[in-house]
Amino acid sequence: MTQLKKSDVRLDTECRPDFPALHQDISSHPLVYLDNAASAQQPSTVIDAVAYYQRHDHANVHRGVHTLSYRATEAYEGARDKIQSFINAAKRSEIVLTSGTTESINLVAQSFCRPRLAAGDKILITHLEHHSNIVPWQLLCEQTGAELVVAPINKSGELRTEAFDQLLTDDVRIVAIAHVSNALGTINPVKDIIAKAKSRNIAVLLDGAQSVPHMPVDVQDLGCDFYAFSAHKMFGPTGVGVLFGREAVLDAMPPYQGGGDMILEVSFDGTTYNDLPYKFEAGTPNISGVVGLGAAVDYLRSVGMTRIAQHEQQLLEYMTRRLEGIDGMRLIGTATEKASVQSFLVDDIHPHDLGTILDHQGVAIRTGHHCAMPVMDFYGVAGTARASLALYNNIEDVDRLIEAIAKARHIFG
Ligand code: ALA
Repeated sequence: MTQLKKSDVRLDTECRPDFPALHQDISSHPLVYLDNAASAQQPSTVIDAVAYYQRHDHANVHRGVHTLSYRATEAYEGARDKIQSFINAAKRSEIVLTSGTTESINLVAQSFCRPRLAAGDKILITHLEHHSNIVPWQLLCEQTGAELVVAPINKSGELRTEAFDQLLTDDVRIVAIAHVSNALGTINPVKDIIAKAKSRNIAVLLDGAQSVPHMPVDVQDLGCDFYAFSAHKMFGPTGVGVLFGREAVLDAMPPYQGGGDMILEVSFDGTTYNDLPYKFEAGTPNISGVVGLGAAVDYLRSVGMTRIAQHEQQLLEYMTRRLEGIDGMRLIGTATEKASVQSFLVDDIHPHDLGTILDHQGVAIRTGHHCAMPVMDFYGVAGTARASLALYNNIEDVDRLIEAIAKARHIFG
């Protein structure tokens, strides 16, 4: 077992006080929050930024000449600048603010792919995708006659790269792949994938929902065309997210939705569209959510993404070894390159029963199919229990998880 000492992992001591929701009892036990892959808790700076905006600055953006509208616009566009810098996009016009990863992927499917696809064209994904990186492509295939091709994974939950290479043929129009799997924690070899796709002039979308909160992400270094992520998994509010798209690619795409703010001129003879990124931001956006996302970016940068990745890697390794030490444990997802997530089954305890018993001990995990039913099918299970880490988790959290599982095993005999 990794000889991890408390002194090795310091981020939790530094960060935990910043998260009010962590400091409460659940069922008379101090909360241990290990459901970060579903939604992470928010630091006071995010909560306060949203509250301050709502108390002092709220108005509609891009529309008014009055002071509050000016302030709201500054706050909203200021957040866009922060996001651009955070993921190292070349231009602020490449940051489209959406309702989350799901909308970002649907936008690419409908606006980038749909006009370009003909019957027989292919969309290449992998077996470990979240439903939000499967279903939008299935809808698109129904609309266009295109074919969804799925690259296989191995028993560890890693992409089978030789099979992927064979499937990456010239009739593939886009590769859409998770940077990190939400169900398995696998970090996909995305730089290699992008290089291979680019050598054939194939577009690449990365689902970054599970990577952006846990590791440095540089979209220029990656070289992807699109990168999608959600605020609520990176300590921001729900209902807001980002689509990064390369400017030249976004520029050539038609709007996704029509409405206010995405136009230059409207008449009954026709409409001209606004510049990037506004062409893709129809209607009044989630302004307070974007303000919160900007504050979340500030928070992550103040802690440092490299430190966060190191902290979580150490803790993941510790958690994996501790889980492995439990009799009757079956780990699901044992890739060599992993981040922050461990799925598992214990004896024949149903994951929902396990999750409920853990909740009674104050330990929050997710149970079920994790919006990744094909992954569950691959392992021949209906669902798993999943513990997922964030920067504020620590060794004591993992130890409490292990104790709670031991109690569940005792209860189930
Ligand atoms: N996508 C979220 C998860 O993995 C909801 O739990």
